[in-house]
Amino acid sequence: MPKGIFITLEGPDGSGKSTQVENIRAYFVSNGREVVVSREPGGTSISEKLRSIVLDNANAEMDDVTEMLIYAAARAQHVAEKIRPALERGAVVVCDRFVDSSIAYQGFGRNLGDQVSEVNRYATGGLEPDVTFFMDLDPEIGRARIGKDVRDRLEQQKLDFHYRVYDGYKALCDKYPERIVRIDASKTIDEIKGDIYSKLETLETLETLETL
Ligand code: TYD
Repeated sequence: MPKGIFITLEGPDGSGKSTQVENIRAYFVSNGREVVVSREPGGTSISEKLRSIVLDNANAEMDDVTEMLIYAAARAQHVAEKIRPALERGAVVVCDRFVDSSIAYQGFGRNLGDQVSEVNRYATGGLEPDVTFFMDLDPEIGRARIGKDVRDRLEQQKLDFHYRVYDGYKALCDKYPERIVRIDASKTIDEIKGDIYSKLETLETLETLETL
């Protein structure tokens, strides 16, 4: 049985993650792998309910710590119910956002700092992605791609919040150079797909070597 592979995509809002999630799915499906695609906040029935609470524009009074804990609670359920079982049966799990989003948005954006990592380590039981693609795009460009009237509670935050989030991502790239692959998300969709596929090929070669 192949070993499970956990892949996450990260980046500012509007950086084109969901298109590339589908490309990654197609890559592994054509190689005959079981692929589980998911997203955060969400991915399970309970986590999707938490998603609607945390992103609801009506919840303007939400405290920053409450926000961080809701993301972590949604994640704990997602890991326990969906991600861990899939990895255990050898699937490739491709997830749009994971713990790095909480570190960038709540840790840096909301200035909650290091506690965010600790809470999330507890929530995930220490599960970490094998590879993370960081879709690197200036937050102002990403934001302009999302129509003003469809922005959720987080997307509506002021631009300086989104620049702090971006700084958070850059700090994560420096801290985890082995895990996080920076992708220039200002390129065309096909160029980005090519960059991601070449990394996936290396990953598969490494996997094959490991099983020899
Ligand atoms: P996402 O589903 O990527 O947004 P959309 O599908 O609308 O593009 O994420 C929703 C928002 O939640 C996004 O602004 C990022 C934010 N977020 C956090 O602040 N912390 C987290 O831990 C996660 C997973 C997302």
